[in-house]
Amino acid sequence: MTGKILFEPDLSTSALRTRQIGIIGYGSQGRAQALNLRDSGFIPLIGLRQGPSFETAARDGFIPAALTDVASTADIVMVLTPDETHAEVCERHVFPAAAEGTHIGFAAGFTVHYGVVRMREGLHPIMVAPKGPGRVLRQRFKSGGGIPALVAAHDNDPDGLEIAKAYAKALGCGRAGVVETTFREETVADLFGEQSVLCGGLVELMKTAFEILVDRGYTPEVAYIECIAEVEYIASLISRVGLADLGSHISSTASYGGSTRGARVVGADFRKRLESILDEIESGSFYEEFRKHTEGDRGVPVEHERLERIERARKTFGSENEDA
Ligand SMILES: NC(=O)c1ccc[n+]([C@@H]2O[C@H](COP(=O)([O-])OP(=O)(O)OC[C@H]3O[C@@H](n4cnc5c(N)ncnc54)[C@H](OP(=O)(O)O)[C@@H]3O)[C@@H](O)[C@H]2O)c1
Repeated sequence: MTGKILFEPDLSTSALRTRQIGIIGYGSQGRAQALNLRDSGFIPLIGLRQGPSFETAARDGFIPAALTDVASTADIVMVLTPDETHAEVCERHVFPAAAEGTHIGFAAGFTVHYGVVRMREGLHPIMVAPKGPGRVLRQRFKSGGGIPALVAAHDNDPDGLEIAKAYAKALGCGRAGVVETTFREETVADLFGEQSVLCGGLVELMKTAFEILVDRGYTPEVAYIECIAEVEYIASLISRVGLADLGSHISSTASYGGSTRGARVVGADFRKRLESILDEIESGSFYEEFRKHTEGDRGVPVEHERLERIERARKTFGSENEDA
């Protein structure tokens, strides 16, 4: 059943007790997941190539091994390298070495849903997708909290779902809520959320609002604070009090101005444009576009000139310490 939400008392880590976990990759998710698992009593094997994160894992007390060694030893192999490397990592290193019955885990549904990797017969895909960056997953865990996670396995793999739920609990996600879903639902909703709001719409709105103020002669640092930096505070307020009660926690001018101008900002055809973005994700055309992009120069288009003014203003104020 999908949509079921489980919390700490509904979850058990018993499915991990007799299974060795392996983690491939030690970046944002890999490091946070490995450290949370270890603190929960499950010491993962870490599979790495000779690269920059080898040192980091060793400094954290792990003894990194070759990808194939981890894949052949672990019962659960979490592939925590960037999405565009999954075909190479899985098909060249993990799948040939993994024993029959191994569960192959991903932190997003993308790879399974779009068939990025041809899953070998006898291997079972699972998903444990923490809904936040590794840094936050780690920080919240250390302070006794957690972030929500979405979990999935194929319908004919009940063990897979138990493993995914147990793994999510060991990451601390049961403290915030673990949602049973499907690879498809996680993929579509995740891509849509990041494109329409988190990394697309919201970011474009911040950039444009900043530019309008600065182009009219307002101080860039003032524009930065008002249109970009304060997003952090409003996001945390929304998460604490909810949208319905937001108005009573902000000034009356902010509440009146926001509610009368918000719809004008996004425009009348906004819903249609968002729906067309969802269509591209659902039909797989976004995935095809992204695949071609990563086969090409791999660079994310960055508008250097456009961002330069914003960066200068941001650096005036310094930034938060990001260590997990
Ligand atoms: N970041 C997030 O906020 C987030 C949130 C939820 C889910 N996810 C999902 O989590 C997964 C991992 O994402 P991430 O952001 O944690 O990745 P990441 O930080 O970019 O992963 C970096 C790690 O992958 C290794 N790596 C990169 N390319 C490799 C290759 N070709 N072969 C072997 N190892 C390679 C790196 O090794 P070197 O040091 O040697 O380069 C490093 O250890 C993805 O599926 C992503 O969609 C991410």
